[in-house]
Amino acid sequence: MRNKITIIGAGNVGATCAHWLAERELGDIVLVDIPQTEGMPQGKALDLTQAGPIVGYDTHITGTTGYEETAGSDVAVITAGVARKPGMSREDLVTVNQNIITDVIHKFVPGSPDAILIIVTNPLDTMTYLAYKLAGFPKQRVIGQAGILDSARMRAFIAMELNVAVENTHAFVLGGHGDEMVPLPRYSTVAGIPITELLSPERIAAIVERTRKGGGEIVQLLKTGSAYYAPGAAAAQMVEAILKDKKLIVPCSAYLEGEYGLRDMCFGVPVKLGRTGIEQIIEIALTEEEREALQRSARLIRETMGALK
Ligand code: APR
Repeated sequence: MRNKITIIGAGNVGATCAHWLAERELGDIVLVDIPQTEGMPQGKALDLTQAGPIVGYDTHITGTTGYEETAGSDVAVITAGVARKPGMSREDLVTVNQNIITDVIHKFVPGSPDAILIIVTNPLDTMTYLAYKLAGFPKQRVIGQAGILDSARMRAFIAMELNVAVENTHAFVLGGHGDEMVPLPRYSTVAGIPITELLSPERIAAIVERTRKGGGEIVQLLKTGSAYYAPGAAAAQMVEAILKDKKLIVPCSAYLEGEYGLRDMCFGVPVKLGRTGIEQIIEIALTEEEREALQRSARLIRETMGALK
């Protein structure tokens, strides 16, 4: 039987994620949006279906403004929500997106009690926490997409700086998905060599800073919304790791119960992704400075969580 992947929020990130997923033929896709958008998810689904013969995929893609078609989903990618505009932080979105995530979880979960949830809506760690609390799923099955995207941004900047293939790069970005995220240069490599041996401290600091502000840089350029190609690709990679049971080690926002000295919050840490969701949270050795940076980032996330009603 084919896997069923539901994408909730058929806007920029949702539709782009559907595009990346359709090409991989990982399962059939249901694109969901609100009744006020009637026709839009259906139109995008039909358009993607018609790309199939050209690109060469047999993925069935359905668009809907209801939840009947989502029943029995294996995975749901939740991108429903409002995106940032210039001058806004991810944290500015908390109240409006809290209402949206609440609506989505209440409508989706009854029909798909065994699904794995991937949250993309910002502010990411807070919305992942909210979804975890509302869904009542085991913590392994509620995962926030942030670290893959932030690490990809850092990898792109490393590759640009050293003029090497992106495949040669590896980067580790932990912590909350905000401007206090924690890129870890010691664990970021080119062909296995830490970038601390390849670049000056000044160049590394510049890459770290650009990574932290990576989302904001795109918001400034686009002016009308936030990034969607890389966020969509990052969510698609998580779906692939889960449905193929790849045991992929990547940073994701996970519910913590004492790991890294943190509990009762969702936060970006290295995890192993497989068919049951988060199969392991990996604790890596950190210097005092790195540990402090993580704690700073966690404090900011707790502040945002405090705005939940
Ligand atoms: N249920 C389902 N879909 C909803 C709901 C809801 N309750 N509320 C809003 N949506 C839909 C909107 O109708 C819209 O089509 O979510 C979609 C969001 O799409 P965009 O506005 O294009 O936003 P996008 O760029 O995709 O960002 C979505 O992801 O990266 C984060 O910060 C970003 O929180 C934002 C989210």
